[in-house]
Amino acid sequence: MYAAARAYTNIALIKYWGKKDEQLILPMNSSLSLTLDAFYTETSVEPLQGLHEDEVIMAGAPLSGAPAAKISRFMDLVREKSRNHMFARIVTRNHVPVASGFASSASGFAALSAAAARAYGLDCSGTALSRLARRGSGSASRSIYGGFVKWMKGTDDASSYAVPVDPANWPICLLAVAVNKQPKKISSREGMRRTVKTSSFYPVWIKEAERDLARIEPAIREHDLDMIGKIAEANALKMHAAMLAAEPPFTYWEEGTMTVMRRAVHLREQGIPCYFTMDAGPNVKLLCSEADVDRILEDLSEFFPPESLTVARPGPGVDYLENPI
Ligand code: PMV
Repeated sequence: MYAAARAYTNIALIKYWGKKDEQLILPMNSSLSLTLDAFYTETSVEPLQGLHEDEVIMAGAPLSGAPAAKISRFMDLVREKSRNHMFARIVTRNHVPVASGFASSASGFAALSAAAARAYGLDCSGTALSRLARRGSGSASRSIYGGFVKWMKGTDDASSYAVPVDPANWPICLLAVAVNKQPKKISSREGMRRTVKTSSFYPVWIKEAERDLARIEPAIREHDLDMIGKIAEANALKMHAAMLAAEPPFTYWEEGTMTVMRRAVHLREQGIPCYFTMDAGPNVKLLCSEADVDRILEDLSEFFPPESLTVARPGPGVDYLENPI
């Protein structure tokens, strides 16, 4: 049957960095994120008789090469689980602005999982969708739910999935600063592999990530933006430090990354709570209160053009769409 779903992207406050099992995408550490309202992917899946391979249409044009192959490999898993070996027509549209500095893999695989699970008659419970989405991209496991979400690392395929932690229904904001929109040179897969294998800081990262996670959960319950921000910022720095200690060392930071970090420190010195976090790329996301967004935007506009600044708020979990996309 035809099914369509929408899923939103998320930003990790406690990062996932490193795989214990590359095949099953089991992470070395548990992580925690905030789902965002500004960026989402809509995807439909329709198994069709007579197709000799999956047909993937992205933004109105047929997709080919490595991105299409990745989606097809994921669909092979759906076919294996459902014992329905029909190929599918997959139509997908990313509403993740190119200039937002966000990757679309989290929202993309969450939306694809939900649509594919329904289309192939698989279990569509949150846990089942999260486990399935994890196989496409680790961070996608968290985009199944809205608000603050924790991905429990688990010990095997059955126990590694995300759970909602808090709906984040208070005025918290995420300001995305796109420093460089070019595709990254080192994929997160390769970056993780190198860090796990060679970084002498990696064992410390694992310990710190678990400790940060235990500390951020009470701060989320108390809506303590300062504490959440401090823990998230320090956690991001520790992940990036582990990359610097890899052999050969590497970093995703660029000059613009440093500029935003310095502005966050400067804004805090002016009494404006504002905390940075960065993923496997140069772009920076600032966590702040709704009340301070305009002042922070004003400060950043001296350094960055308006189109590279996007304001996001907490977003919802995955949802099915009634109308064709
Ligand atoms: O889900 P992946 O394989 O794109 O890895 C995401 C890694 C980080 O974005 C750096 C951290 C995270 O937890 O999202």
